[in-house]
Amino acid sequence: MLLDGSRVLVAGATGVIGAAVASGLVERGARVAVAGRNPTRLAQHAADLGGVPASRIDAYDLDGCADLAHWAADRLGGLDAVVVTIGVAAFGPADTQPEPVTEHVFTVNALAPIAVLRGALAVRPTPGTLAAVTGVVAERPQRQMAAYSSAKAALSGWLTAVRAERRSQGTVVLDARLPHLDTGFADRAVAGTPPPLPRPVPLDETVDALLEALESDAVLLAPNGTGGVTADHRLPQPH
Ligand SMILES: NC(=O)c1ccc[n+]([C@@H]2O[C@H](COP(=O)([O-])OP(=O)(O)OC[C@H]3O[C@@H](n4cnc5c(N)ncnc54)[C@H](OP(=O)(O)O)[C@@H]3O)[C@@H](O)[C@H]2O)c1
Repeated sequence: MLLDGSRVLVAGATGVIGAAVASGLVERGARVAVAGRNPTRLAQHAADLGGVPASRIDAYDLDGCADLAHWAADRLGGLDAVVVTIGVAAFGPADTQPEPVTEHVFTVNALAPIAVLRGALAVRPTPGTLAAVTGVVAERPQRQMAAYSSAKAALSGWLTAVRAERRSQGTVVLDARLPHLDTGFADRAVAGTPPPLPRPVPLDETVDALLEALESDAVLLAPNGTGGVTADHRLPQPH
């Protein structure tokens, strides 16, 4: 997908990664619509990006999440891509996590992103690229993060199934399985305190890699073992 001139919805643009992705897209010539929960940061980011369309979302309003892509297509005169960067962590042994924490973590990390992307599938013409930030935990679930890891795995599984469903239409589905970044995300956990975390990968380089992955129609972005992330353009298809 050529980013220059593309029309992109960033859901989660009030977060550190989402804000950096939205800015990077605008720098590369894309027209963006942004969505986020925090009204003050949302208004500020939209203004900083030159007064782009902005919409509030809350993960618990799944109908609102599902309508978001239609809203963005309406405001931008069509939609070429959707990038979802919504998420929240929770830490602690699984047996200490109250049910509402698990429900919250699954709502924010799986149900809401799925609703946003499912809504995008119903837009005509359908955006050619759908992307979501999952996390390395989706393929390597971590102790003290059972709910967070499994919610990200659920989102990653949904992306894999939709990629297969949409292969014949040429829809690109990007799963960004990012490793730990120093965004303060772990300190904003809905429950618990983070265990010792690995050395963070640099934010700027990672966001650049994500934007290049979008531009080159990659389907996976994952740690490369040398302190960064690398894009993959082909994945084994599910049977
Ligand atoms: N940082 C890392 O180490 C890391 C590693 C791998 C994957 N990720 C994933 O990357 C994504 C972005 O993380 P980040 O580091 O940029 O963290 P962040 O700054 O905390 O961003 C989180 C985003 O999720 C939104 N959000 C949280 N709860 C929500 C809710 N109930 N309803 C609607 N939106 C909600 C936040 O909205 P408000 O700010 O408006 O409340 C914010 O836009 C997340 O999906 C995270 O799981 C992060």
